[in-house]
Amino acid sequence: MRQKIVAGNWKMNKTLEEAKILASEVMAMVADEVKGNVKVVLCVPSPYLVPLKNQLGNSSIKIGAQNCSEHDWGAYTGEVSALMLKSMEIPYVILGHSERRQYFGENGKLLGAKVDKALAAGITPIFCCGEPLEIREAGTHEQLVKQQVEEALFHLSAEALQKVVIAYEPVWAIGTGKTATAQQAQEMHAVIRKQLASKYGEAVANEISILYGGSVNSKNAEELFSCPDVDGGLVGGASLKSREFVDVIKGMK
Ligand code: 13P
Repeated sequence: MRQKIVAGNWKMNKTLEEAKILASEVMAMVADEVKGNVKVVLCVPSPYLVPLKNQLGNSSIKIGAQNCSEHDWGAYTGEVSALMLKSMEIPYVILGHSERRQYFGENGKLLGAKVDKALAAGITPIFCCGEPLEIREAGTHEQLVKQQVEEALFHLSAEALQKVVIAYEPVWAIGTGKTATAQQAQEMHAVIRKQLASKYGEAVANEISILYGGSVNSKNAEELFSCPDVDGGLVGGASLKSREFVDVIKGMK
């Protein structure tokens, strides 16, 4: 089912102590203030997955990782596999974030393999796509994003695809304070959904949650989330402050 989701991507921020405080503040505010059926996910640094999952207990907030390996086990120093995440009962993992593509050389083929590992472990991948500024300026952004989606996801069956969440994150809007307009976001989300429909049919495409990411904050969230093809957000900086993050969540009506 197409679900409304607001996920915080904490990236490489916070000490364990700070992380626990942030999670407990978000948990209390969400319990008090957030009504309706929006799913809230906190994608936290891997060493904090278990302590924060334990802290959240049976709250409605779910925990996610920010990456996983394309391998199951073995001599891959520093890596975390989807099977490890499964053994910790972690339900979500971000894959293909633009920072992973840019700084760690992740490409479509590798990401396809990571998506497969996450799905095989029963973990929902939040698969990221999005164009850098020069591509947007050259006007080839639709082409690039469609290529990113095709390379990493189009080998999946319709049944498997329906377990994937997609996040459209234009790189020029990440951490820059320069948000895509609601119109720009809607246009790209519609392009992605149409692409999914052309391969998997409209019924399947309409089941996929497509999140927007890139300088989402409490002031722009409501307008972005009101777009028909925007099913929620993947939130960086604004997820690091409890009040701001919960106000973003409340932008989802
Ligand atoms: P900002 O919200 O800080 O722009 O980051 C977006 C992002 O990268 C979420 O994954």
